[in-house]
Amino acid sequence: PFVSMRQLLDHAAENNYGLPAFNVNNMEQVWAIMEAASELDAPVIMQASAGARKYAGEPFLRHQILAALEAYPNIPIVMHQDHGQSPAVCLAAIRSGFTSVMMDGSLMEDGKSVSSYEYNVDTSRKVVDIAHAIGVTVEAELGCLGSLETMKGDKEDGHGAEGTMTKEMLLTDPEQAADFVKKTQCDALAIAIGTSHGAYKFTKKPTGDILAISRIKEIHARIPNTHLVMHGSSSVPQELLAEIRQFGGDMKETYGVPVEEIQEGIKHGVRKINIDTDIRLAMTGAIRRYFVENPSKFDPRDYLKPAREAAKKICLARYQQFGCAGQA
Ligand code: G3H
Ligand code: 13P
Ligand code: NA
Ligand code: ZN
Repeated sequence: PFVSMRQLLDHAAENNYGLPAFNVNNMEQVWAIMEAASELDAPVIMQASAGARKYAGEPFLRHQILAALEAYPNIPIVMHQDHGQSPAVCLAAIRSGFTSVMMDGSLMEDGKSVSSYEYNVDTSRKVVDIAHAIGVTVEAELGCLGSLETMKGDKEDGHGAEGTMTKEMLLTDPEQAADFVKKTQCDALAIAIGTSHGAYKFTKKPTGDILAISRIKEIHARIPNTHLVMHGSSSVPQELLAEIRQFGGDMKETYGVPVEEIQEGIKHGVRKINIDTDIRLAMTGAIRRYFVENPSKFDPRDYLKPAREAAKKICLARYQQFGCAGQA
């Protein structure tokens, strides 16, 4: 059944686990997430970006998630709008049946310029007022994703601020977070701790100066009842990079967010962990391998099967690692 995101987050907090939130764009990704969740009896958060809606078209995207609901009637599912850049985008998602939305007011509607604190409070509060009236959960964001190594906003897949950033922008302030949650009444708060979207997050295995898990602890100590969300939290497994390279792909040296750091976050209030890139890497590695090993094959089902199996493996691992297995 569809369930409320707030309910899932509350349950995760009461039972000290984290929920991976996987991005979906197509049937193979929906299949992978649902197969993994039903094998492990884990609750599901599927999230769709504006880009996903553009790729699949709103009806196809919605019906893929509805198909999951029909095919797996015993698994609780949340259908979440990822990175809504305006109240209008959030309202369109709610109208289309999403049970949870993210109002990302950390940036202006163009998705490029950093917003003022007042703008973020006002737009987030506006969405909360409408969403809560009809039982829809709201995730808001305070602080900007981006790299503490380069002091650049997150630009990888077009989601971040342009130009040079300050440490104040790239790290969510605990005191401001407390004020923000009080004023907006958001259900979950996405925070900035040095992660960014995409494959290129860190130039080395991250240490505390570039991945500020300590900041999560400070925020959680200040607002212990707020559910925290980690974006840009793919782990970018080295073996997936190696597979892509081995079969002709061009991946530069890069590092993601280590699973053990996410687990540390889960001990300190992180309840939703956003993952898109790891599934992209897994599917790409499997497809590249298949094409090289089977040059005469041309039925898409032949190469999408190993791709969705590879995606499922990522989902199984994260459900287990975040303590989500058996919680459905
Ligand atoms: O927020 C970033 C997610 O990875 C979605 O990316 O906008 O390319 O679908 P996308
Ligand atoms: P990754 O690019 O690290 O998978 O992050 C996804 C995300 O934060 C979607 O909102
Ligand atoms: Na989100
Ligand atoms: Zn994100």
